[in-house]
Amino acid sequence: MTVPVVTIDGPSGSGKGTICQLLAKQLGWHLLDSGALYRIVGLAAERQGVSFDDEAALAALAANLDVAFLPSEPGEPATVMLDGDDISQLVRMETSGELASKVAVHQGVREALKSFQRGFARAPGLVADGRDMGTVIFSDAPVKIYLTASAEERAQRRYKQLIGKGESVNLAALLEDIQARDDRDMNRTVAPLKPAEDALVIDSSCIPVEEVFQQVLSAVQASLSSQL
Ligand code: C5P
Repeated sequence: MTVPVVTIDGPSGSGKGTICQLLAKQLGWHLLDSGALYRIVGLAAERQGVSFDDEAALAALAANLDVAFLPSEPGEPATVMLDGDDISQLVRMETSGELASKVAVHQGVREALKSFQRGFARAPGLVADGRDMGTVIFSDAPVKIYLTASAEERAQRRYKQLIGKGESVNLAALLEDIQARDDRDMNRTVAPLKPAEDALVIDSSCIPVEEVFQQVLSAVQASLSSQL
């Protein structure tokens, strides 16, 4: 039996993390936070003093990660362990996102993480959050969503989120970081961030999260009922 997969891709701060968690919870499905994997590789490289230009060393590191996602309630973020340490807080920090996008440009790193990511597709279903979930990793997924929003709106949202978590951030610097990360993610040669040809594109700049969620849920339900 094929496991149903819903892919949700989009740029940083588009709200896909929240939508993926809500959807996984609603459906009782597994959740793959693929960004966390790239963040972990970035953190591990920094810890071990591996150069961000050394593709072979980064790929070896990605292939041999001692990482564990400890199960949580459906739709809740997992506890992330690296080399036995709980790095759940660290992994979600803005600085880790920067490290992630630097290691993510390398083909060798992306190849090393492929089968690990595909292994998350287990019954009853998977919600996959990332940049290339619909274009590369689960290119056969029956439902693909591309969630976006203007860079200004995403910076605002990220600002509120990080302030809420007690991180000290500056809005203008955050906007610059988001634009730099978009540029790196969209213009890299390997698996650049773009909507899959068969993706439903939703611009959430002016739509409340509840409405975005309803649009996504309707698309998933329509697809599931057409397969019955
Ligand atoms: O989604 P998140 O902000 O955690 O992703 C961090 C970075 O990891 C992204 O900016 C991107 O460079 C990289 N990434 C990727 N492919 C994915 C998920 C994340 O290249 N599937």
